[in-house]
Amino acid sequence: MAIRVADFEKDIQPLVNGAKKAGVSMYNPPGAVWFCGEDDGRVYSCGCIVVNDKTKAARWKSDFTLPEYRGRGTYKRMLKLKLLYCMKRQVKKITAFVGPLNLNVLLGMGFTMVSKPKADVFYLLKEL
Ligand SMILES: CC(C)(COP(=O)(O)OP(=O)(O)OC[C@H]1O[C@@H](n2cnc3c(N)ncnc32)[C@H](O)[C@@H]1OP(=O)(O)O)[C@@H](O)C(=O)NCCC(=O)NCCS
Repeated sequence: MAIRVADFEKDIQPLVNGAKKAGVSMYNPPGAVWFCGEDDGRVYSCGCIVVNDKTKAARWKSDFTLPEYRGRGTYKRMLKLKLLYCMKRQVKKITAFVGPLNLNVLLGMGFTMVSKPKADVFYLLKEL
């Protein structure tokens, strides 16, 4: 199982329907950098970063792992890669909207809650 930078059309598009059903927004904003987890040629996990180079702020979005591949640590490995990538681009601030399944993972990485949760959506911030 490998984690690598991905191409939205080729690698991520096949995951879009499943992710949407899980409530994950999967649009591809300009300048987005995508990552994926791949197992024997099958892309099973994804996430993306959108960096604003003027403000040095980044947004993390579209984190998703196919149900049958969950709990193998892919997401946590991908987040380490995302963090490294942000540090290399001299990002100073990372924001993310997360759900109950990944909230604790991001809190464990030093993210803090920005505002009161709306339903099951939490808005988080990490300053670098
Ligand atoms: C959140 C999500 C991306 C995690 O992916 P993953 O590759 O299974 O993550 P990991 O294996 O690195 O485990 C991360 C956490 O997921 C949870 N987890 C572990 N096994 C799981 C399973 N079988 N099913 C659901 N969640 C599980 C645990 O909280 C785990 O943290 P822990 O090891 O500290 O207990 C995945 O559950 C998912 O796609 N969920 C639906 C969409 C979603 O909620 N996306 C985030 C909102 S944008």
